[in-house]
Amino acid sequence: MQESGVKVRLATPADAAEVTEVLTASYSRLWQGHYAESDLAALLPLVTQANPRLLESGRFFLALSDGRCAGCGGWSIAAPGKSGGITPGLGHVRHFAVHPDHLRKGVGSALYNACLAQARQEGLTRMEAWSSLPAVPFYERLGFRVIEHFTVDFPGGVGLASVKMIADPA
Ligand SMILES: CC(C)(COP(=O)(O)OP(=O)(O)OC[C@H]1O[C@@H](n2cnc3c(N)ncnc32)[C@H](O)[C@@H]1OP(=O)(O)O)[C@@H](O)C(=O)NCCC(=O)NCCS
Repeated sequence: MQESGVKVRLATPADAAEVTEVLTASYSRLWQGHYAESDLAALLPLVTQANPRLLESGRFFLALSDGRCAGCGGWSIAAPGKSGGITPGLGHVRHFAVHPDHLRKGVGSALYNACLAQARQEGLTRMEAWSSLPAVPFYERLGFRVIEHFTVDFPGGVGLASVKMIADPA
């Protein structure tokens, strides 16, 4: 069911605290049971901090419900991770999270639609997601297909089991 009254707007660096709050609430609850406890203890502090480069990019969005942050997500032209590589026509979905109080109400989809509309305006034809294990059905519903399972390596030798997914929106 679509959540009424959710507004999607561009994020700015001033939204860092709210973005960190929603990333923390979402990932620490929704990754439980999909990753080992010891991996979560190492990974969560690394992946739940708002990314300043995304916030200042003009390509990162907040979903607001009653003025509070219900979710966040964006996209970039550079690939995430160390490579930062750029492939003409390809955009990368980044840091999607919906607060556990707002799940399955279309918030994540609304955020993706905002990303897609902007990416299309910039001439992109393909989107790639490095999905967490539990988010795969969400991206499949948005039209993504699984390319491969792989591990994102973080400092300290901890790895995040991930799924590379691609969409070619019409
Ligand atoms: C993935 C996530 C962003 C989805 O947000 P959401 O607002 O609940 O998604 P939507 O309501 O727009 O879902 C759209 C459709 O996706 C599918 N979907 C979403 N979450 C799903 C789940 N947990 N299980 C199965 N299907 C799911 C459903 O088909 C859903 O439609 P329906 O509710 O009518 O059945 C949210 O679950 C989340 O924050 N997960 C944890 C963080 C994370 O792993 N983010 C991805 C990082 S790569």
